[in-house]
Amino acid sequence: MKVLIVGSGGREHAIAWAVNKSDKADKIYCAPGNAGIAEYAECVNIGAMEFDKLVAFAKEKEIDLTIIGMDDPLVGGVVDAFEAEGLKVFGPRKNAAIIEGSKAFSKDLMKKYHIPTAAYENFTDKDEALAYLETAKMPIVLKADGLALGKGVLICNTLEEAKDGVKTIMEDKKFGDAGNTMVIEEFMTGREVSVLAFCDGKTIKCMTSAQDHKRAGDGDTGLNTGGMGTFSPSPFYTKEVEDFCEKYIYQPTIDAMAAEGRPFTGILFTGLMLTEDGPKVLEYNARFGDPEAQVVLPRMKNDILEVMEACVEGRLDEIDLQFEDNAAVCVVLASDGYPVSYQKGFVIGGLENFKEKDGYYCFHAGSKLTEEGIVTNGGRVLGITAKGSDLKEARKNAYAATEWVTFENKYMRHDIGKAIDEA
Ligand code: AMP
Ligand code: GLY
Repeated sequence: MKVLIVGSGGREHAIAWAVNKSDKADKIYCAPGNAGIAEYAECVNIGAMEFDKLVAFAKEKEIDLTIIGMDDPLVGGVVDAFEAEGLKVFGPRKNAAIIEGSKAFSKDLMKKYHIPTAAYENFTDKDEALAYLETAKMPIVLKADGLALGKGVLICNTLEEAKDGVKTIMEDKKFGDAGNTMVIEEFMTGREVSVLAFCDGKTIKCMTSAQDHKRAGDGDTGLNTGGMGTFSPSPFYTKEVEDFCEKYIYQPTIDAMAAEGRPFTGILFTGLMLTEDGPKVLEYNARFGDPEAQVVLPRMKNDILEVMEACVEGRLDEIDLQFEDNAAVCVVLASDGYPVSYQKGFVIGGLENFKEKDGYYCFHAGSKLTEEGIVTNGGRVLGITAKGSDLKEARKNAYAATEWVTFENKYMRHDIGKAIDEA
């Protein structure tokens, strides 16, 4: 098979690694890719939002399956563009990717189909939102409706903060048009768990669980980022929690999307909060999590292309999804100053240490090949993943491996997976 992967981050590197392992893969392309992905794939200089060029490339190279890694092209309808030309593509169509593209849509869907989530109201009018806040209980959560690089969520402790937040989102348009509509939501507390699942429009099969660390600093301090590290599985995602979610969240979501005439094919990412009143949905995404993919895919036993083809062909029920009975931890090496401002272009040393080391992975998130060698090219630079027989061993291995790589302004959190000790 000839495969095209669309995206350029650590998630796409993990997908490329998994595809490369498949006996079915003869040739892999990645658009636009990065210096790490280039180890397995021929990188082509086409942006993820250049749908016409992507489609033309897939036709020219007779690509058998295109895998879309990122949210923006999915929400923008890249799958529809491929399908219109009769090309096989893995990911939800535009009318299903809206489950990530519009938080107001996903909240209304959950309400209509009784899927557990925080109580909320949607607003398109700033004054109505401000009036609503006057009688609301604090803390409260404000969410810009559209895609905002994972940063469109404000947790407000006081009425003043919340009023400022409404202005930030709806008046100053800090998140652009994503803030034309806003969700105001009840604040919940509990452990967060990410569950990724393969879907074929009617069947959903969940992968092993993971937990992300969204804040930039140790002890969950500082600004929200794309994710500073992950571990898998989550010890808090017990069999009992899983059974509840299977019954009341995952299948009901897939059934709800089908009933709405929006069958969901691809990866459904459910962000859960395990509250005192049971698991509730924080958000849905329409693709693999990043860096969740970097701990989940290395533990998957199946051939990823077999599973993805089954999804596209509507026969996921035939697949027995299996994961290794071990654990993995991913520590993100970032550029100091991320997510605000940071320098890039520093030479990365020590990458050869990962060659042929079983159970250790260096997924590139932001890197570039130059005449000087591979250099840093983003806020998140590398995802260092290691497996272990249990979470503690995996964490020890991952932190040891972070020492194998060097670059100027290297920054990481030192408490990825600390929650493991409380399990
Ligand atoms: P989201 O993009 O919806 O996942 O939100 C980003 C982060 O904000 C989540 O991972 C949570 O840590 C936090 N968050 C979102 N919604 C709520 C809520 N209703 N209550 C408490 N925290 C929340
Ligand atoms: N790690 C969170 C996300 O991919 O949205």
